[in-house]
Amino acid sequence: MGGLQGKRGLEGCTQSRRPCGTGGAMLRVLCLALCGLLTHTRAEPGALLRLGMDIMNHEVQSAMNESHILEKMAAEAGKKRPGAKPIKGITDMKVKDVKLPVITLSFTPGVGIFQCVSTGMTITGKSFIGKNMEITVVFNITATNRILQNEETGLPTFKSEGCEIILVSVKTNLPSKMMPNVINKFLDSTLHKVLPGLMCPAIDAVLVYVNRKWANLNAPMPIGKMGTVKYILTSGPTTTASYIQVDFSPVVQHQKGNAIQLAGAGEAPKVPEDYVEGSSQLLLSAALLTAELALLQKSFDLNIQNRRVGKPAPQTTETLAGFIPGVAEAYPKPKPLVTHIRINKPPKVTMKTGESLLHLHGTLEMFAARSRRKAPVSLFLLEAHLQLKVQYSVHENRLQMTTSLDRLLSLSRQSSSIGAFSEKQLTGFITDFLRKAYIPAVNDVLQVGLPLPDFLDMNYSLAELDLVENALVMDLKLG
Ligand SMILES: *[C@@H]1O[C@H](CO)[C@@H](O)[C@H](O)[C@H]1NC(C)=O
Ligand SMILES: *[C@@H]1O[C@H](CO)[C@@H](O)[C@H](O)[C@H]1NC(C)=O
Ligand SMILES: *[C@@H]1O[C@H](CO)[C@@H](O)[C@H](O)[C@H]1NC(C)=O
Repeated sequence: MGGLQGKRGLEGCTQSRRPCGTGGAMLRVLCLALCGLLTHTRAEPGALLRLGMDIMNHEVQSAMNESHILEKMAAEAGKKRPGAKPIKGITDMKVKDVKLPVITLSFTPGVGIFQCVSTGMTITGKSFIGKNMEITVVFNITATNRILQNEETGLPTFKSEGCEIILVSVKTNLPSKMMPNVINKFLDSTLHKVLPGLMCPAIDAVLVYVNRKWANLNAPMPIGKMGTVKYILTSGPTTTASYIQVDFSPVVQHQKGNAIQLAGAGEAPKVPEDYVEGSSQLLLSAALLTAELALLQKSFDLNIQNRRVGKPAPQTTETLAGFIPGVAEAYPKPKPLVTHIRINKPPKVTMKTGESLLHLHGTLEMFAARSRRKAPVSLFLLEAHLQLKVQYSVHENRLQMTTSLDRLLSLSRQSSSIGAFSEKQLTGFITDFLRKAYIPAVNDVLQVGLPLPDFLDMNYSLAELDLVENALVMDLKLG
């Protein structure tokens, strides 16, 4: 523990006095200048996380609970410590109870979180004149929890610095005239010397619990059986007056190992500034979702056989003949239709305010089925560009996408065994066919869900989703 000066502070649990003083301020100015330059040159984040005070408060509170800090403080305080000077004039000292700590946090720009824990304890003992006495001390423990990127694990880590104890009050049950000023002062200074050693490690213990909850953040998470995504930090987290920001350069990888490059969208997507002060957001770029869907490209290929498309009759060459007269000539007896859809470019996700689209490029080939032993005959092959509308939701901490066909943006004939025909005549038929037979299959594939960063036991189920330019923003809510 560094800097354990026992000053009697009157400044309260505020950040008015910082251990770094003016030197720190200079550094901060320098950092602002340099970090500003760096943000322009570094790769745009594929995802970013803004942790507001709501989440930080909740995390520190629950870490306090989980770490049983109260019990630890009492146990530490009650311990007989070799080498510690006994308090002159008091014997048989015991810690009777420890006051429930009240924690106040605030952000220190460029550094991390300033933490103040208000607590106290009652100490019993025998006074120098043999009387039972009680001393109740109330004090504040302050420390700066610097947020860093752990060099070994690459994870965000809080590290406490400059722990100080500020005495708020000392009360005893002895009449004041029996507690001469000298003893009072002596008590003060002794407590100041003893308390930091007792209390500061307890504060550090809380951070251990918070830090543990980052452990899974950069682990690979499966996207179906096709590959994984890892949320790797772009650089160390940064702190502003209202949040801690963690930028990610996610790594999307095929099961076989090759990574998919995230396409740059030019300007880095931004979190809108109109979220409530203190709230927390996760931003996922369209580029990241596009890379993740690239893993699923092959899964969007589909063979549709004898499916009842367009109730009540199954589709046959007769259905097609209504649009292309050549079909009736070639197939006087109706044959069932078989359709092969092949997606031949990586799917692409686009986003703008309030709207997200999924673009699929591929071919659609229709066949006339023949008897079981014979291969179906290709009727025609069309190049198609499908534009799907995407709706997002969260299920079991995964981002779910559900699509609906918005438009068939283009349809062009590549080959035909039934003579020339105009694609326009088929647009309505194909659109209807895709809606009924293909889009449900696309939605089945998308059910795998896209993994969200696993940190601080975040439960995403209450998050509110917003679409902005080139990104999806999740406004995180605590349960
Ligand atoms: C101790 O902390 C409390 C709560 O944060 C604050 O109101 C009070 O002013 C602080 N007292 C001192 C002496 O620092
Ligand atoms: C911590 O414990 C207190 C008291 O038992 C409880 O009221 C509070 O909800 C807990 N906080 C968290 C975040 O678990
Ligand atoms: C997340 O929160 C929802 C709603 O509050 C709850 O139903 C669900 O069980 C939670 N999930 C986890 C993993 O705790």
